[in-house]
Amino acid sequence: MSVVGINYEKCSVCKKCITDCTRSLFKEDPSGKVIRLADEMNRCNFCGKCVAICKENAILWEGNWEDDVKSYPGVEEYEENVSYENLMQLLMAKRSVRQYKIKKIPQEVLKKVFEAMRYASSADNRRAWNFSVVSDPSIIKKISQASIKIVFRYIGFPSADAALKYFDSIDKDPIFHKAPALIFLTTGATGSMPLIDSGIVLTYGQLAAHTLGLATCWIGMAHGLGMNKEIMKVIGLEGQIHGALTIGYPAVKYLRTPPRAPLNVVGLE
Ligand SMILES: Cc1cc2nc3c(=O)[nH]c(=O)nc-3n(C[C@H](O)[C@H](O)[C@H](O)COP(=O)(O)O)c2cc1C
Ligand code: SF4
Ligand code: SF4
Repeated sequence: MSVVGINYEKCSVCKKCITDCTRSLFKEDPSGKVIRLADEMNRCNFCGKCVAICKENAILWEGNWEDDVKSYPGVEEYEENVSYENLMQLLMAKRSVRQYKIKKIPQEVLKKVFEAMRYASSADNRRAWNFSVVSDPSIIKKISQASIKIVFRYIGFPSADAALKYFDSIDKDPIFHKAPALIFLTTGATGSMPLIDSGIVLTYGQLAAHTLGLATCWIGMAHGLGMNKEIMKVIGLEGQIHGALTIGYPAVKYLRTPPRAPLNVVGLE
């Protein structure tokens, strides 16, 4: 997206774009007209807040995502869309799930998970994310075995061979828990705070997945796969893995929230 100017037939000079643009790219000129400054240093990070805040829809921008700009009842008072109580029920019920049904996730359901991730915050709005979905069981097994070869000591085996043999003998996948699909994430060189952004975007995906009856688990044990070029080719991404999730329909139900210690917060009584 690129902001290219202001539609003066619509602009009511409310000045909200001036106040809200974190890059100070709007100002009032001496004639009282609000203008967008030439962005010679490319400071605009395409956050789109000027588009989002303008009541008159007067911000002119170009890009391929015209359909993405939506206004809907409740967009201003968003706290009325999802109550704190409803959100808390989702957050408290969402567990990291390691037992999955042998059931394919329809593409349109997976797309909804990614749709939610589009709206994740990211440092400087860099959004330097690259994702891959793997759902072929034989490829998942191959990736799992490659992970076991990296983490065998961590999971309590003296050698990779011993670990592979053991899990084969009990038909268990200690890495991806026989999930029907995996989501991998790498971040491009343009990321400003890539590890944090990765955590945020996948958390959006996890929460969305749970509203769709799916379950997920973050797989830190797969992060080392970035060093295995052959496996990265199979995954279809380059660079370091900054996030990996299992995703599928849960084969387990939890009946209550687990006990969780209160947070350490300075400044709250
Ligand atoms: C890790 C991280 C660091 C951020 N740091 C800043 C910051 O220092 N100052 C700021 O104004 N916004 C900061 N942001 C907010 C982003 O600029 C913002 O998420 C992005 O522009 C997209 O806008 P949205 O969150 O409204 O969708 C940060 C976001 C993240 C995730
Ligand atoms: S927010 Fe919209 S209406 Fe208000 S000054 Fe900016 S362009 Fe004009
Ligand atoms: S997209 Fe964001 S940074 Fe760019 S002009 Fe609009 S508010 Fe400012």
